[in-house]
Amino acid sequence: MSVKSEVLKQLEQNRGESVSGGALSMSLGVSRNAVWKAISKLRGEGYEIEAATNRGYRLLDGGDIISSEGIAPYLKTEFFGREIKVFNEVDSTNNKARLLAGEGASHGLLVISDRQTAGKGRLGRSFYSPAGAGIYMSLIIRPELPAEQAVLITSCAAVAVAEAVEALSGAEAKIKWVNDVFAGGKKICGILTEAGMNAETCRLDYAVVGIGINVTNGAFPPEVAGVATSVLEQAGKKISRNRLIAEVMNRLEEQYLKLREKAFLPEYIRRSCVVGRDVTVYEGNNTYPARAVTIDESARLIVKLPDGTQKALNSGEVSVRPL
Ligand code: BTN
Repeated sequence: MSVKSEVLKQLEQNRGESVSGGALSMSLGVSRNAVWKAISKLRGEGYEIEAATNRGYRLLDGGDIISSEGIAPYLKTEFFGREIKVFNEVDSTNNKARLLAGEGASHGLLVISDRQTAGKGRLGRSFYSPAGAGIYMSLIIRPELPAEQAVLITSCAAVAVAEAVEALSGAEAKIKWVNDVFAGGKKICGILTEAGMNAETCRLDYAVVGIGINVTNGAFPPEVAGVATSVLEQAGKKISRNRLIAEVMNRLEEQYLKLREKAFLPEYIRRSCVVGRDVTVYEGNNTYPARAVTIDESARLIVKLPDGTQKALNSGEVSVRPL
């Protein structure tokens, strides 16, 4: 670890409190001058660090810069997010994570970027990912699961994000089948899971769980502005991205450990904003009305058609019709 990372780690661990230059230089085994240089570099990267005579250095709240040092103090997991790669810019964190997974990256490695130039959404859509305005992250997992159960990972992640957003923002978070998290009636997060198959065993070699959370409204493009919201808007105050990333990892690992028992399903159904509502189903070029009845053991949406028959939807999209 570089001196800069070590200094940042200690400042993050003592966020809001001063740490003396002497204490830093002693614990890191470097000169005070080296500590000062590290502080200057961190300031150059945008960290707001107060320096007071006789008290030392204090990391202030501004900036909201994503770093593994900033996430670590809030992390309670054993695997998820214990190794983190943070980038300023990538095309898509899912692409980056798939590349790393193909090269043998371990279960739990988290790829985060401040900005994505080609963020991907479901059904071939793009995901708007401007710098500083969101959390764009992809978690590599190596599940012992048959490929057809990969959809359960997405549903489990939706529950984890909903719980984390609700815990930190105070706003009730709902899930719109399959993978969208809503707050205040608008989309706050989308999830895209991509799987890598082992051709011999036909089982999952890895899955990449891509999570995109709107943290500020940034400059939502016009087509998104009316239907999207952010953590800032829902909470009515700034929430640190590092804190929220850690909270999602904590909740996701907890849910993931119980994935086989599908223990997340009751919560997934409880948080559904679709079940019990009249919906429009979009299946390729086909669109039809239905009533969403429930979600089954495989996280499929069970809908009742106007002729009274029931149908299980594996994937695709529904929109809720107004009451
Ligand atoms: C959707 O709303 O359709 C899914 C959006 C998923 C976006 C996230 S952002 C991090 C990860 N990288 C991507 O390219 N996509 C996912």
